[in-house]
Amino acid sequence: MGGRGSAGRTGIVAALAVFAVPAVAQAQPPAAPLAPVAALRAVPQGSAIRLAAVRNDAGYRDTFLREFDSLTPENELKMGELQPHRGRFDFAAADELVRFARRNGKTVRGHTLVWGQALPLWLIDHGVTDKLGLRLPPIVLPTLPNPIGKILGDTTTLLTGWRRDDLLAVMKHHIRTVMRHYAGDVTEWDVVNEPMAAGGGLAPTVWQRFIGPDYIEQALRTARATDPRAKLFINDFDVEVPGPKLDGLVRLARDLVTSGVPLDGIGLQAHTHIDGFADEATLTRTMRRFTRLGLEVQITEMDVATSLVDVARPDRRQRQALAYGAAARACNAVRECTRFTTWGFTDAVSWLGAGASALLFDTKYRAKPAFAAVRSAFARRQ
Ligand code: XIL
Repeated sequence: MGGRGSAGRTGIVAALAVFAVPAVAQAQPPAAPLAPVAALRAVPQGSAIRLAAVRNDAGYRDTFLREFDSLTPENELKMGELQPHRGRFDFAAADELVRFARRNGKTVRGHTLVWGQALPLWLIDHGVTDKLGLRLPPIVLPTLPNPIGKILGDTTTLLTGWRRDDLLAVMKHHIRTVMRHYAGDVTEWDVVNEPMAAGGGLAPTVWQRFIGPDYIEQALRTARATDPRAKLFINDFDVEVPGPKLDGLVRLARDLVTSGVPLDGIGLQAHTHIDGFADEATLTRTMRRFTRLGLEVQITEMDVATSLVDVARPDRRQRQALAYGAAARACNAVRECTRFTTWGFTDAVSWLGAGASALLFDTKYRAKPAFAAVRSAFARRQ
Protein backbone atom coordinates (compact mmCIF):
# COMPACT_ATOMS: atom_id res chain seq x y z
CA MET A 1 0.00 0.00 0.00
CA GLY A 2 2.87 2.41 0.61
CA GLY A 3 4.17 3.74 -2.66
CA ARG A 4 0.85 3.95 -4.48
CA GLY A 5 0.98 6.73 -7.04
CA SER A 6 4.49 7.65 -6.08
CA ALA A 7 6.64 6.40 -8.93
CA GLY A 8 6.87 9.76 -10.69
CA ARG A 9 7.89 11.55 -7.58
CA THR A 10 10.48 8.96 -6.64
CA GLY A 11 11.88 9.21 -10.15
CA ILE A 12 12.31 12.95 -9.92
CA VAL A 13 14.08 12.74 -6.60
CA ALA A 14 16.33 9.96 -7.88
CA ALA A 15 17.19 12.08 -10.92
CA LEU A 16 18.07 15.00 -8.69
CA ALA A 17 20.30 12.72 -6.69
CA VAL A 18 22.21 11.86 -9.86
CA PHE A 19 22.71 15.51 -10.75
CA ALA A 20 23.84 16.25 -7.22
CA VAL A 21 26.99 14.16 -7.71
CA PRO A 22 29.84 16.66 -8.15
CA ALA A 23 31.70 16.66 -11.49
CA VAL A 24 34.86 14.55 -11.42
CA ALA A 25 37.64 16.75 -12.78
CA GLN A 26 37.11 19.95 -10.84
CA ALA A 27 40.17 22.11 -10.27
CA GLN A 28 38.90 23.21 -6.86
CA PRO A 29 36.63 20.71 -5.16
CA PRO A 30 33.88 22.48 -3.24
CA ALA A 31 34.71 22.90 0.44
CA ALA A 32 31.58 21.05 1.59
CA PRO A 33 30.26 18.34 -0.72
CA LEU A 34 26.56 18.55 -1.50
CA ALA A 35 24.49 16.37 0.79
CA PRO A 36 23.11 13.42 -1.16
CA VAL A 37 19.38 13.62 -1.76
CA ALA A 38 17.69 10.54 -0.34
CA ALA A 39 15.33 8.82 -2.75
CA LEU A 40 11.86 8.36 -1.34
CA ARG A 41 11.10 4.90 0.01
CA ALA A 42 7.80 3.28 0.91
CA VAL A 43 8.51 3.14 4.64
CA PRO A 44 5.50 1.55 6.34
CA GLN A 45 3.64 3.89 8.65
CA GLY A 46 1.92 2.70 11.80
CA SER A 47 0.02 3.90 14.83
CA ALA A 48 -0.75 2.70 18.31
CA ILE A 49 -4.45 2.01 18.61
CA ARG A 50 -6.89 1.16 21.42
CA LEU A 51 -9.49 -1.56 21.22
CA ALA A 52 -12.24 0.53 22.84
CA ALA A 53 -11.95 3.18 20.14
CA VAL A 54 -11.80 0.60 17.35
CA ARG A 55 -15.02 -0.91 18.68
CA ASN A 56 -16.96 2.26 19.31
CA ASP A 57 -15.86 4.90 16.87
CA ALA A 58 -16.28 4.49 13.12
CA GLY A 59 -14.36 7.70 12.39
CA TYR A 60 -11.41 6.34 14.34
CA ARG A 61 -11.56 2.99 12.60
CA ASP A 62 -11.90 4.45 9.12
CA THR A 63 -9.11 6.99 9.53
CA PHE A 64 -6.75 4.36 10.85
CA LEU A 65 -7.59 1.89 8.07
CA ARG A 66 -7.25 4.52 5.37
CA GLU A 67 -3.93 6.03 6.47
CA PHE A 68 -1.83 3.39 8.23
CA ASP A 69 -0.08 0.13 7.36
CA SER A 70 0.43 -1.28 10.83
CA LEU A 71 -0.84 -1.08 14.37
CA THR A 72 0.66 -1.37 17.82
CA PRO A 73 -1.87 -2.29 20.52
CA GLU A 74 -1.43 0.64 22.91
CA ASN A 75 -1.93 -1.38 26.10
CA GLU A 76 -3.57 -4.70 25.24
CA LEU A 77 -0.34 -6.71 24.93
CA LYS A 78 1.25 -5.52 28.17
CA MET A 79 1.88 -8.07 30.88
CA GLY A 80 -0.65 -6.63 33.34
CA GLU A 81 -3.36 -7.11 30.72
CA LEU A 82 -2.29 -10.51 29.45
CA GLN A 83 -1.40 -12.26 32.69
CA PRO A 84 -3.53 -10.63 35.40
CA HIS A 85 -3.18 -13.76 37.56
CA ARG A 86 -0.05 -15.82 37.73
CA GLY A 87 -0.11 -18.45 35.00
CA ARG A 88 -3.59 -17.43 33.78
CA PHE A 89 -3.61 -15.57 30.51
CA ASP A 90 -6.37 -13.42 29.10
CA PHE A 91 -5.86 -12.80 25.41
CA ALA A 92 -9.38 -11.60 24.61
CA ALA A 93 -8.73 -7.88 24.03
CA ALA A 94 -5.46 -8.34 22.19
CA ASP A 95 -6.95 -11.12 20.07
CA GLU A 96 -9.69 -8.77 18.93
CA LEU A 97 -7.13 -6.20 17.79
CA VAL A 98 -5.05 -8.85 16.06
CA ARG A 99 -8.14 -10.15 14.22
CA PHE A 100 -8.97 -6.57 13.22
CA ALA A 101 -5.46 -6.24 11.81
CA ARG A 102 -5.60 -9.57 9.98
CA ARG A 103 -9.02 -8.86 8.42
CA ASN A 104 -7.73 -5.55 7.12
CA GLY A 105 -4.26 -6.57 5.99
CA LYS A 106 -2.35 -4.59 8.64
CA THR A 107 0.87 -5.68 10.33
CA VAL A 108 1.00 -5.88 14.14
CA ARG A 109 3.92 -4.64 16.29
CA GLY A 110 3.95 -6.44 19.61
CA HIS A 111 4.40 -4.13 22.57
CA THR A 112 5.77 -5.37 24.91
CA LEU A 113 7.03 -8.58 26.56
CA VAL A 114 9.38 -7.36 29.30
CA TRP A 115 8.95 -3.91 30.84
CA GLY A 116 9.23 -2.42 34.32
CA GLN A 117 5.72 -0.96 34.08
CA ALA A 118 2.19 -2.17 33.34
CA LEU A 119 2.96 -5.24 35.42
CA PRO A 120 0.34 -7.38 37.15
CA LEU A 121 -0.04 -6.82 40.87
CA TRP A 122 0.97 -10.36 41.72
CA LEU A 123 4.35 -9.67 40.20
CA ILE A 124 4.92 -6.25 41.73
CA ASP A 125 3.63 -7.13 45.16
CA HIS A 126 5.31 -10.48 45.44
CA GLY A 127 5.83 -11.29 49.10
CA VAL A 128 9.26 -12.30 50.32
CA THR A 129 9.14 -14.68 53.16
CA ASP A 130 11.91 -14.87 55.71
CA LYS A 131 13.26 -18.09 57.16
CA LEU A 132 10.28 -18.49 59.47
CA GLY A 133 7.86 -18.12 56.59
CA LEU A 134 6.73 -14.66 57.65
CA ARG A 135 5.97 -12.12 54.98
CA LEU A 136 8.46 -9.26 55.05
CA PRO A 137 7.22 -5.71 54.62
CA PRO A 138 7.35 -4.36 51.09
CA ILE A 139 10.15 -2.05 50.07
CA VAL A 140 8.96 1.14 48.43
CA LEU A 141 11.04 2.20 45.46
CA PRO A 142 10.58 5.20 43.23
CA THR A 143 9.61 4.26 39.67
CA LEU A 144 11.60 5.46 36.73
CA PRO A 145 11.17 8.92 35.43
CA ASN A 146 9.38 8.42 32.15
CA PRO A 147 7.23 10.35 29.73
CA ILE A 148 4.20 9.85 31.96
CA GLY A 149 6.22 10.82 35.02
CA LYS A 150 7.18 14.04 33.33
CA ILE A 151 3.56 14.99 33.04
CA LEU A 152 1.87 13.41 36.02
CA GLY A 153 4.75 13.46 38.48
CA ASP A 154 6.48 10.32 39.58
CA THR A 155 4.49 7.63 41.23
CA THR A 156 5.83 4.89 43.42
CA THR A 157 5.84 1.17 42.92
CA LEU A 158 5.71 -1.41 45.61
CA LEU A 159 8.41 -3.96 45.14
CA THR A 160 9.13 -6.95 47.21
CA GLY A 161 11.55 -9.74 46.60
CA TRP A 162 11.85 -12.51 44.04
CA ARG A 163 14.31 -15.34 43.87
CA ARG A 164 16.26 -15.00 40.63
CA ASP A 165 15.30 -18.42 39.34
CA ASP A 166 11.63 -17.92 40.03
CA LEU A 167 11.43 -14.57 38.31
CA LEU A 168 13.46 -15.83 35.37
CA ALA A 169 11.01 -18.70 35.00
CA VAL A 170 8.09 -16.25 35.14
CA MET A 171 9.69 -14.07 32.47
CA LYS A 172 10.47 -16.96 30.12
CA HIS A 173 7.04 -18.50 30.59
CA HIS A 174 5.39 -15.17 29.78
CA ILE A 175 7.49 -14.67 26.64
CA ARG A 176 6.89 -18.23 25.41
CA THR A 177 3.16 -18.24 26.06
CA VAL A 178 2.52 -14.87 24.44
CA MET A 179 4.80 -15.33 21.44
CA ARG A 180 3.45 -18.79 20.73
CA HIS A 181 -0.09 -17.48 20.88
CA TYR A 182 0.68 -14.77 18.32
CA ALA A 183 3.24 -16.55 16.14
CA GLY A 184 2.61 -15.59 12.54
CA ASP A 185 0.29 -12.72 13.50
CA VAL A 186 2.65 -10.49 15.44
CA THR A 187 5.79 -10.21 13.38
CA GLU A 188 7.81 -7.69 15.41
CA TRP A 189 8.16 -7.55 19.18
CA ASP A 190 9.48 -4.98 21.61
CA VAL A 191 10.98 -7.80 23.62
CA VAL A 192 12.43 -5.42 26.19
CA ASN A 193 10.96 -1.98 26.70
CA GLU A 194 12.78 0.92 28.39
CA PRO A 195 15.78 -0.96 29.81
CA MET A 196 17.96 2.14 30.19
CA ALA A 197 18.19 4.63 33.05
CA ALA A 198 18.79 8.31 32.30
CA GLY A 199 22.44 8.06 33.37
CA GLY A 200 23.26 5.28 30.89
CA GLY A 201 23.07 2.27 33.21
CA LEU A 202 20.26 -0.24 33.33
CA ALA A 203 16.97 0.97 34.79
CA PRO A 204 16.25 -0.61 38.18
CA THR A 205 13.14 -2.51 37.10
CA VAL A 206 11.93 -5.58 38.90
CA TRP A 207 13.61 -7.68 36.18
CA GLN A 208 16.97 -5.99 36.56
CA ARG A 209 16.87 -6.06 40.35
CA PHE A 210 15.89 -9.64 40.88
CA ILE A 211 17.28 -11.40 37.80
CA GLY A 212 20.23 -9.13 37.10
CA PRO A 213 21.53 -7.46 33.93
CA ASP A 214 21.40 -10.69 31.95
CA TYR A 215 17.58 -10.59 31.97
CA ILE A 216 17.84 -8.77 28.62
CA GLU A 217 19.92 -11.44 26.97
CA GLN A 218 17.74 -14.18 28.49
CA ALA A 219 14.60 -12.48 27.19
CA LEU A 220 15.98 -12.12 23.67
CA ARG A 221 17.23 -15.71 23.49
CA THR A 222 13.89 -17.02 24.74
CA ALA A 223 12.05 -14.88 22.21
CA ARG A 224 14.18 -16.09 19.27
CA ALA A 225 13.80 -19.72 20.28
CA THR A 226 10.02 -19.33 20.59
CA ASP A 227 9.31 -17.62 17.25
CA PRO A 228 12.39 -17.57 15.03
CA ARG A 229 10.57 -15.56 12.36
CA ALA A 230 9.68 -12.61 14.57
CA LYS A 231 11.86 -9.50 14.56
CA LEU A 232 13.16 -8.69 18.02
CA PHE A 233 13.55 -5.12 19.27
CA ILE A 234 14.74 -3.21 22.28
CA ASN A 235 12.71 -0.03 22.60
CA ASP A 236 13.43 3.09 24.64
CA PHE A 237 12.68 6.80 25.07
CA ASP A 238 14.91 9.88 25.24
CA VAL A 239 17.54 8.13 23.15
CA GLU A 240 17.07 10.18 20.01
CA VAL A 241 19.63 12.79 20.99
CA PRO A 242 23.24 12.35 22.12
CA GLY A 243 23.78 11.85 25.82
CA PRO A 244 24.60 9.23 28.41
CA LYS A 245 21.34 7.34 27.87
CA LEU A 246 21.94 6.94 24.14
CA ASP A 247 25.58 6.00 24.80
CA GLY A 248 24.40 3.38 27.26
CA LEU A 249 21.92 1.91 24.80
CA VAL A 250 24.53 1.79 22.04
CA ARG A 251 26.89 0.01 24.45
CA LEU A 252 24.20 -2.48 25.39
CA ALA A 253 23.31 -3.13 21.74
CA ARG A 254 26.97 -3.59 20.82
CA ASP A 255 27.57 -6.01 23.69
CA LEU A 256 24.54 -8.05 22.71
CA VAL A 257 25.43 -8.15 19.03
CA THR A 258 29.07 -9.02 19.61
CA SER A 259 28.15 -11.83 21.97
CA GLY A 260 25.76 -13.30 19.43
CA VAL A 261 22.55 -12.53 21.33
CA PRO A 262 19.60 -12.38 18.90
CA LEU A 263 18.55 -8.77 18.37
CA ASP A 264 17.17 -7.32 15.14
CA GLY A 265 16.53 -3.71 15.88
CA ILE A 266 16.24 -0.71 18.14
CA GLY A 267 13.02 1.22 18.60
CA LEU A 268 13.35 4.94 19.16
CA GLN A 269 10.14 5.93 20.90
CA ALA A 270 10.50 9.61 20.01
CA HIS A 271 8.04 11.09 22.48
CA THR A 272 8.88 14.74 22.12
CA HIS A 273 7.53 18.28 22.15
CA ILE A 274 7.69 21.40 20.02
CA ASP A 275 10.34 23.05 22.18
CA GLY A 276 12.82 20.22 22.27
CA PHE A 277 12.66 17.88 19.28
CA ALA A 278 15.62 16.29 17.53
CA ASP A 279 16.44 17.64 14.09
CA GLU A 280 16.94 15.44 11.05
CA ALA A 281 20.74 15.36 11.18
CA THR A 282 20.78 14.43 14.86
CA LEU A 283 18.28 11.64 14.38
CA THR A 284 20.09 10.32 11.34
CA ARG A 285 23.34 10.19 13.31
CA THR A 286 21.57 8.38 16.15
CA MET A 287 20.09 5.82 13.78
CA ARG A 288 23.47 5.20 12.16
CA ARG A 289 25.05 4.35 15.52
CA PHE A 290 22.74 1.34 15.58
CA THR A 291 22.70 0.46 11.89
CA ARG A 292 26.52 0.33 11.97
CA LEU A 293 26.10 -2.61 14.34
CA GLY A 294 24.00 -4.38 11.72
CA LEU A 295 20.68 -3.50 13.38
CA GLU A 296 17.46 -2.08 12.04
CA VAL A 297 15.92 0.99 13.61
CA GLN A 298 12.34 2.22 13.82
CA ILE A 299 10.51 5.22 15.16
CA THR A 300 8.05 3.41 17.40
CA GLU A 301 5.98 5.85 19.49
CA MET A 302 6.29 9.32 18.13
CA ASP A 303 4.18 12.16 19.44
CA VAL A 304 4.95 15.86 19.58
CA ALA A 305 3.25 17.66 22.46
CA THR A 306 2.56 21.27 21.67
CA SER A 307 3.09 23.77 24.45
CA LEU A 308 0.75 23.17 27.36
CA VAL A 309 1.59 26.56 28.80
CA ASP A 310 0.86 28.77 25.84
CA VAL A 311 -1.86 26.98 23.91
CA ALA A 312 -2.46 30.03 21.80
CA ARG A 313 1.07 30.02 20.43
CA PRO A 314 0.50 30.73 16.76
CA ASP A 315 3.34 28.65 15.32
CA ARG A 316 2.72 25.48 17.26
CA ARG A 317 1.32 23.48 14.36
CA GLN A 318 4.20 24.55 12.14
CA ARG A 319 6.78 23.61 14.74
CA GLN A 320 5.03 20.32 15.24
CA ALA A 321 5.18 19.68 11.50
CA LEU A 322 8.92 20.42 11.59
CA ALA A 323 9.43 17.88 14.37
CA TYR A 324 7.45 15.12 12.66
CA GLY A 325 8.94 15.94 9.27
CA ALA A 326 12.50 15.78 10.62
CA ALA A 327 11.94 12.33 12.09
CA ALA A 328 10.20 11.03 8.99
CA ARG A 329 12.95 12.33 6.70
CA ALA A 330 15.64 10.79 8.89
CA CYS A 331 13.79 7.47 8.77
CA ASN A 332 13.38 7.75 5.01
CA ALA A 333 17.07 8.51 4.52
CA VAL A 334 18.35 5.59 6.58
CA ARG A 335 17.73 2.41 4.61
CA GLU A 336 17.58 0.30 7.77
CA CYS A 337 14.74 2.38 9.23
CA THR A 338 11.91 -0.03 8.61
CA ARG A 339 8.83 1.56 10.16
CA PHE A 340 7.53 4.91 11.37
CA THR A 341 4.94 4.59 14.13
CA THR A 342 3.14 7.30 16.07
CA TRP A 343 1.67 6.77 19.54
CA GLY A 344 -1.90 7.19 18.43
CA PHE A 345 -3.07 9.26 15.49
CA THR A 346 -5.88 11.47 16.75
CA ASP A 347 -5.92 13.95 19.62
CA ALA A 348 -9.33 12.47 20.51
CA VAL A 349 -7.57 9.29 21.70
CA SER A 350 -4.16 10.27 23.01
CA TRP A 351 -2.38 9.22 26.18
CA LEU A 352 -1.23 12.85 26.50
CA GLY A 353 -4.80 14.14 26.35
CA ALA A 354 -6.43 16.28 23.67
CA GLY A 355 -4.87 19.44 25.19
CA ALA A 356 -1.38 18.36 24.22
CA SER A 357 -2.52 18.20 20.60
CA ALA A 358 0.41 15.87 20.00
CA LEU A 359 -0.76 13.70 17.09
CA LEU A 360 -1.18 13.91 13.33
CA PHE A 361 -4.97 14.36 13.29
CA ASP A 362 -7.09 16.64 15.46
CA THR A 363 -10.01 15.47 17.59
CA LYS A 364 -12.28 15.54 14.52
CA TYR A 365 -9.91 13.43 12.42
CA ARG A 366 -8.77 16.36 10.35
CA ALA A 367 -5.15 16.08 9.21
CA LYS A 368 -2.74 18.67 10.61
CA PRO A 369 0.29 20.12 8.79
CA ALA A 370 2.34 17.45 10.57
CA PHE A 371 0.54 14.76 8.60
CA ALA A 372 1.51 16.29 5.27
CA ALA A 373 5.08 16.67 6.55
CA VAL A 374 5.29 12.96 7.33
CA ARG A 375 3.69 11.91 4.09
CA SER A 376 5.93 14.07 1.95
CA ALA A 377 8.93 12.33 3.52
CA PHE A 378 7.77 8.93 2.30
CA ALA A 379 6.68 7.62 -1.06
CA ARG A 380 2.98 7.46 -0.26
CA ARG A 381 -0.10 9.16 -1.55
CA GLN A 382 -1.02 12.29 0.45
C1 XIL B 1 1.20 4.31 27.67
C2 XIL B 1 -0.21 4.26 27.12
O1 XIL B 1 -0.28 5.09 26.00
C3 XIL B 1 -1.21 4.69 28.17
O2 XIL B 1 -2.54 4.51 27.70
C4 XIL B 1 -0.99 3.90 29.44
O3 XIL B 1 -1.83 4.41 30.45
C5 XIL B 1 0.46 3.98 29.91
O4 XIL B 1 1.31 3.56 28.84
N1 XIL B 1 6.20 4.38 26.58
C6 XIL B 1 5.70 3.14 26.23
C7 XIL B 1 4.22 2.93 26.13
O5 XIL B 1 6.48 2.23 25.89
O6 XIL B 1 3.85 1.64 26.46
C8 XIL B 1 3.48 3.93 26.97
O7 XIL B 1 2.08 3.76 26.71
C9 XIL B 1 3.95 5.33 26.66
C10 XIL B 1 5.40 5.49 27.00
